[in-house]
Amino acid sequence: MAGLVRPVLAANWKMNLGPSAATTFFEAYLARYAPRDDRTVILFPSAIALAAARASARARPDLRFGVQNIHSAEKGAFTGETSAAMASDAGARFVLVGHSERRHVFGETDAQTAEKVRRAAAHGLVAVLCVGEKIEEREQGQTDAVVIRQLRAALAGLEPSAIAEVVVAYEPVWAIGTGRTATPEDASAAHQAIRSELRALGGAASDAIPILYGGSVTASNAAALLAAPGVDGLLVGGASLDPESWAAISNA
Ligand code: PGA
Repeated sequence: MAGLVRPVLAANWKMNLGPSAATTFFEAYLARYAPRDDRTVILFPSAIALAAARASARARPDLRFGVQNIHSAEKGAFTGETSAAMASDAGARFVLVGHSERRHVFGETDAQTAEKVRRAAAHGLVAVLCVGEKIEEREQGQTDAVVIRQLRAALAGLEPSAIAEVVVAYEPVWAIGTGRTATPEDASAAHQAIRSELRALGGAASDAIPILYGGSVTASNAAALLAAPGVDGLLVGGASLDPESWAAISNA
């Protein structure tokens, strides 16, 4: 997305840290991460902790916030779901779409992912579109084919000019929450395939799209992954829950 200073460092808290824990987190985190203009930090708390997180970070407009999911419909009888409009009203500026857990635990399809990307764009939310292959797909040499299919499907409903407004995260499924990180070389190779497909879909304007790596990023491997050619940032799950480790990654 145009205007985001790279690297982009994003924390996906998943179903962790409610409002009280989020408040405690920020007390510790803000003391360890001072505002910097050479990077962008985005946090994705649970929807129910977003207000508490934003209130705790009131004095820190450098920190950006998003939600982990939206429903594809505008509004209505979808018990338990959050709409793009509601997320935006609550102060989210970003939304994770197509995360591996949405796809593989909740059975979200490429078509639903595409609808969510469209809905996010319609409400001015930046979609952080997650793509990535499963281990058997990697072993069969399908990595590039899978991420290209996911990109094409998810971005199909956008005008080429709107494509530059998304962020992409490459998250190999086998690396998420497993402690098995992609090597910087593997990450670079996948990012290169993603970059050339984004070019094909969105033209030169798509060069503004940051491509983040995610999957077992820690304070110890963050710098090496950020140094890999083509890696414009990181999407971090487990290691973003601890304020010290997230501060170290934020400062990487
Ligand atoms: P992890 O999760 O850092 O815990 O592997 C990453 C993610 O799912 O975004």
